[in-house]
Amino acid sequence: MPSRSRLAAGTAPSPSDLDAEAGFARDVAEGLASHPRTLPCRYFYDARGSELFEEITRLPEYYPTVVETGILRACLPEFARSLGGGPAVLVEFGSGSSLKTELLLAAVPGIVRYIPIDVSASALAAAAARLAHRFPALDVRPVVGDFTQATAISLHAEGLARIGFFPGSTIGNFAPDEAIGLLSAFRTTLSPKGRLLIGADLKKDLSVLVPAYDDAAGVTAAFNLNLLARINRELGGNFDLTRFRHLIRYDEKKGRVEMHLESTCDQVVTVRGQSYRFRTGDTIHTENSHKFSIDEFRALGRKAGWQPRHVWTDERALFSVHDFVD
Ligand code: TRP
Repeated sequence: MPSRSRLAAGTAPSPSDLDAEAGFARDVAEGLASHPRTLPCRYFYDARGSELFEEITRLPEYYPTVVETGILRACLPEFARSLGGGPAVLVEFGSGSSLKTELLLAAVPGIVRYIPIDVSASALAAAAARLAHRFPALDVRPVVGDFTQATAISLHAEGLARIGFFPGSTIGNFAPDEAIGLLSAFRTTLSPKGRLLIGADLKKDLSVLVPAYDDAAGVTAAFNLNLLARINRELGGNFDLTRFRHLIRYDEKKGRVEMHLESTCDQVVTVRGQSYRFRTGDTIHTENSHKFSIDEFRALGRKAGWQPRHVWTDERALFSVHDFVD
């Protein structure tokens, strides 16, 4: 299998569509056969999933986007001053629509090159076109790929400061040991002397937390269920979307919101000739979203070899933005 870790900035994705489909089929087969059943969350983000996710970020219940954007507006001038004004390259891991990136680019004029990495080719193309238009002098080099596999990209950045950007609390979607591995891989990508501006969602009252992942309009449910629709579309599965429902749980000990798809009856589902039996109440675990205290998150950064420098938060302490230095 071709390695996905050698994605070079600005080149076409190395895995062919067929490899990608085979990988998806294998991960689905493995995930549905395991106990508890799981599916990797990166598969949420096909074109439809990326659209639904953008809709989530605009929901009244989904506080992380609006709160983090407010923190960035307030802290970016200070962050920019601390960089010293020299030329820099910006790498964004899981860039999606790159909306927050526009604030960063506007605040840090020294950024001459931008490397967004995302699994959604459609989201990436739209964002790259928008940014190239707004910042004509910026050298935009999109990379289509899974950022957990693309940390070995070459930055072609001699003489440039290296800034990593990882907003949205995407780091919370990884288990703590994976998160440490990922943060340390980012450090290697950004070395020497990299800098990482990273968002982390904070622990809070369940009355605020739960609706953010289970909104009244049902957009998060549609986003979660789209994973099954994608399996039907791309792998010829026969999931009946009316027989699964979006379910969230908060695990107090692990400090995480869990997203599941729960079978609402006894049923058998077939994907690529393989049958999977579900009883009423069986779930497929599709996502975790870890919540941190500020100290917990700084400790996580240290374990990955970063030195936490500054942290900014909002008045209600809902969300935090951290400046890590190598
Ligand atoms: N990084 C986001 C978060 O943890 C991702 C996310 C938001 C998400 N809502 C979701 C993932 C619903 C799966 C389902 O907040």
